[in-house]
Amino acid sequence: MPLVDLKDMLRHARAHGYAVGAYGAVGSNFVAAIVAGAEAAHAPVIVSFAESHFAHYDFPALIAAAQSTARRARVPVALFLDHGSGMDSAVAAIRHGCNGVMVDASHLPFDDNVAATRAVADMAHGAGVPVEGALGYVPGVEGEDAERHPGEMRPTSPGEAAIYVDATGVDFLAVSVGTVHGRLRGEPRLDLDRLAAIADAVGVPLVIHGGTGLSDEQYGALTARGVAKINYYTALSDLAAAAASNALADVEAGYTAAIDALRAAVADEVARTCAVFGAAGRADALLPACRHA
Ligand code: 13P
Repeated sequence: MPLVDLKDMLRHARAHGYAVGAYGAVGSNFVAAIVAGAEAAHAPVIVSFAESHFAHYDFPALIAAAQSTARRARVPVALFLDHGSGMDSAVAAIRHGCNGVMVDASHLPFDDNVAATRAVADMAHGAGVPVEGALGYVPGVEGEDAERHPGEMRPTSPGEAAIYVDATGVDFLAVSVGTVHGRLRGEPRLDLDRLAAIADAVGVPLVIHGGTGLSDEQYGALTARGVAKINYYTALSDLAAAAASNALADVEAGYTAAIDALRAAVADEVARTCAVFGAAGRADALLPACRHA
């Protein structure tokens, strides 16, 4: 199945009450495992590349490899730039092959967020690429990405969300309703009334950052209220690290045993969460609804 248009993919997800997982990839083994997990679940999938991880791999080389993997996949795939730092990042990501981008201006005052995001949307739309904007702030609490998202949680205002989507022209809106980047401390408390009000106020598919660590019921409550994309990384990283380190304890098994263990752990978690997000089994129905990217 091909690389597909992300806007078509997420419109289908919102219309049918499920979310596509946007799984953070840090290297070619993650890309292969994410796609393998989605194939096992017959689910559409987004492979997501966070700019904060670019120090750990060669982004242009990995995106080229990911395009090749996506084109040979048995499920629809999209390739996404996550938390880009500015216009240059978005331009580079599109040139290299991402078919969806996010430049994160959510830490800025409202008017500055609008201006920065509007400029990225104008540029990306000129290239036929959809854009995710973020309004409200999702902080980091614990885990490898936490310090990249300092500060306090700021919830998304439904009224501002409507103005923001209109003013920026974004295709998807990332919201802050109680999740955090990285590991959670204690029980996550989601503001579902706020989410429902945002979904009523804006027509575009909604996005959740900080997808790790919610209960199955909470994921269901999100998808019932307009969430069509769930960003998910920390759990994959933790499972991959544990699987690789177990395998490496037996040095004689060699490095490839760690690669195989990492891939299996990531693929299993992707398949499990595709089912929880409601995306499992949707690949065949989704494909005719999507333009090829
Ligand atoms: P988690 O690491 O908490 O799953 O969040 C990932 C994310 O939101 C990437 O944008």
